Amino acid sequence: MTTVLTGITTTGTPHLGNYLGAIKPAIEKSKDSTFKSFFFLADLHALIKCWEPERVAQSTKEIAATWLALGLDTDKAVFYRQSDIVEIPELTWLLTCMTSKGLMNRAHAYKAQVADNIEQGESDPDKGITMGLFSYPILMAADILMFNADEVPVGKDQTQHLEMARDIGARFNHHFGTHFVMPKTIVDDKVSVLPGLDGRKMSKSYQNTIPLWLTEKQLRKHIMKIKTNSLEPGEPKDPSDSHVFDIYQAFATQSQVDEMITAYENGIAWGEAKQLLFELINKELAEPREKYNELIINPVIIERELKKGADKARSFAQPFLKRLKEAVGIRPIV
Ligand code: TRP
Repeated sequence: MTTVLTGITTTGTPHLGNYLGAIKPAIEKSKDSTFKSFFFLADLHALIKCWEPERVAQSTKEIAATWLALGLDTDKAVFYRQSDIVEIPELTWLLTCMTSKGLMNRAHAYKAQVADNIEQGESDPDKGITMGLFSYPILMAADILMFNADEVPVGKDQTQHLEMARDIGARFNHHFGTHFVMPKTIVDDKVSVLPGLDGRKMSKSYQNTIPLWLTEKQLRKHIMKIKTNSLEPGEPKDPSDSHVFDIYQAFATQSQVDEMITAYENGIAWGEAKQLLFELINKELAEPREKYNELIINPVIIERELKKGADKARSFAQPFLKRLKEAVGIRPIV
């Protein structure tokens, strides 16, 4: 059986990009019984970039409710909150001691911040950089190696972190015996990178997202804000140069896409194309939206699910960590 594992950092409100790019394909894959799935809320990672307690807590609740509302089967998949698995920070330390500082110096996220500081003329190139940010890849390696994940589906920006996880795990294996599986990076090019309202990649940092759980009315309003050119109704439009079309395509079946292409050729009005996009997305989200709203007002259900997941995850992590500690020489005297 192949173990698949992925995490989402709990710093924001889930948007359509998260849904299409990560959550929906993960839930689909978890239905395949040849895979064992581990999905988690990376709340320890959240602290690296967010020092707003309410935001971290709220985001954790929202992202958990999102997976559940979208139909994740928690009897099949192991669904948990990273911080509930106390073995993870402990493993992080074992791995930290096996990680050369030079490797971390080369991490993109760290280097980008240093480059930023230098560009701004700061005298200290490490200004504002915490050890959390610096050693972020080690915590991520622990997430992955803890459960011997075979496959880790991530966005392109995370591939270096996966390389580092393999590096760190291999070094541990080399010194202390083969304990860790080398995880494969899965970057699915078929999974859509959704454009946001302004046409750039939909991302929290660009503030161009369409949140996943808007009311019907709000969703429509957001969709009406997607940037278009100024072609008039009746003028033929180019689907390959339209964010409305790109988003439509990500949700539609092939025959719906073909119909939309014809509509573009026939000069569909932007307002009308957006209305069709709204209806398509709304249809897909209407039912889960109700479930989501129910979960948000009944957070005990969410908490119960996360506890169940933590128990399952720890039943593996606990004995495994014990074995790893014994391997490095941390063991009872007699
Ligand atoms: N760093 C990932 C991101 O920002 C989130 C994450 C944390 C993760 N731990 C992980 C993803 C382990 C995959 C596996 O997207």
